[in-house]
Amino acid sequence: MGELKNDRFLRALLREPVDYTPVWMMRQAGRYLPEYRELRSKAGDFLSLCKNKEFACEVTIQPLERFPLDAAILFSDILTIPDAMGLGLYFETGEGPRFKKIVRTEADVDALPIVKTTSDLDYVLNAVTTIRSELNGRVPLIGFSGSPWTLATYMVEGGSSKDFRHVKAMMYDKPEVMHQLLEKLTLSVIDYLNEQIKAGAQAVQIFDTWGGNLSHAAYQTFSLQYMKKIVDGLIREHDGRKVPVIMFTKGGGQWLPQMADAGADALGLDWTTDIGVARGLVGDKVALQGNMDPSVLYASPARIREEVESILSAYGSGSGHVFNLGHGIHQFVDPEHAKAFVEAVHELSPKYHQS
Ligand code: CP3
Repeated sequence: MGELKNDRFLRALLREPVDYTPVWMMRQAGRYLPEYRELRSKAGDFLSLCKNKEFACEVTIQPLERFPLDAAILFSDILTIPDAMGLGLYFETGEGPRFKKIVRTEADVDALPIVKTTSDLDYVLNAVTTIRSELNGRVPLIGFSGSPWTLATYMVEGGSSKDFRHVKAMMYDKPEVMHQLLEKLTLSVIDYLNEQIKAGAQAVQIFDTWGGNLSHAAYQTFSLQYMKKIVDGLIREHDGRKVPVIMFTKGGGQWLPQMADAGADALGLDWTTDIGVARGLVGDKVALQGNMDPSVLYASPARIREEVESILSAYGSGSGHVFNLGHGIHQFVDPEHAKAFVEAVHELSPKYHQS
């Protein structure tokens, strides 16, 4: 599959020296790119893009053709797992994801299968293989999954939610049912990520988008504990190289010390935490990924550059930083601003890596 020509992303995740800070953007393939919108309309809809390996590969590479990104991320979605469990994922225009079947009772949870990736999600593995071969060592490929808690919120609510009414009622009233659901999801995610790694994913990220909505105690019990179990179950070396694991809890800044002990190589940060303070809290246990407010990309390239400099300087000298946005890029961002962001990271960061 070819030697890696640019391994800065993997090196930074392992806190090994690099000459500049590597950068990628969460949701870097997506609606802010006109070429993405064009391919989606050719495919018919979002899920058809995910399920066709040539389309998924083309969309994955689109942002790399525009910007000098240091990593590619598999084009797919975290909700492929609940879909494979039989819930029937679909997207209502303008309303986000929805499920035909909703999980609300103990019997619903009992009926859920554990996902067997090679048969139930083979289209994701085919996309990984196709993308790796097309990348031909240009940059590493990131695989990903949702965290059990985040997946559970969509499965119990039936889609996106503002108040998490049903999933929190289940968690507080029927914790044993919630644990059973999270257990099934955990086993499914371990299998899913390990198969992505075997197919060629060179790093993996766990997206815990809704962990930050939990209380301090509930976060440990219902989200972090299961992510830790996932990390413990992952293949950590493949094809003679370490496979770094990134754990990202949006809104999780106050739990960094506990997260740093969960066994991941790196923690993702949203923009509400100062990355210098975060570095002090985690010490040399993990690398950090983040954390510019995605809304900065609405501002001018000159302002974007200033914000990039301030985050680089807050992190300070030395390796262990992967630059990213604090969450996914918004659909109304001008691609030229995304370009200014990526270029600013490359231009401004070398001075933090002189030994
Ligand atoms: O980062 C990447 O470029 C890789 C692709 C990727 C997508 N979704 C593509 C996508 C990744 C990593 C995800 C993860 C994902 N999906 C998360 C966790 C990350 C996060 O943002 O917190 C979540 C919560 C989902 C669930 C999901 N999928 C939602 C809520 C939506 C609707 C979003 C919206 O704004 O309408 C999706 C659809 C989705 N996933 C799109 C893309 C590009 C948009 C689909 C489209 O309309 O073309």
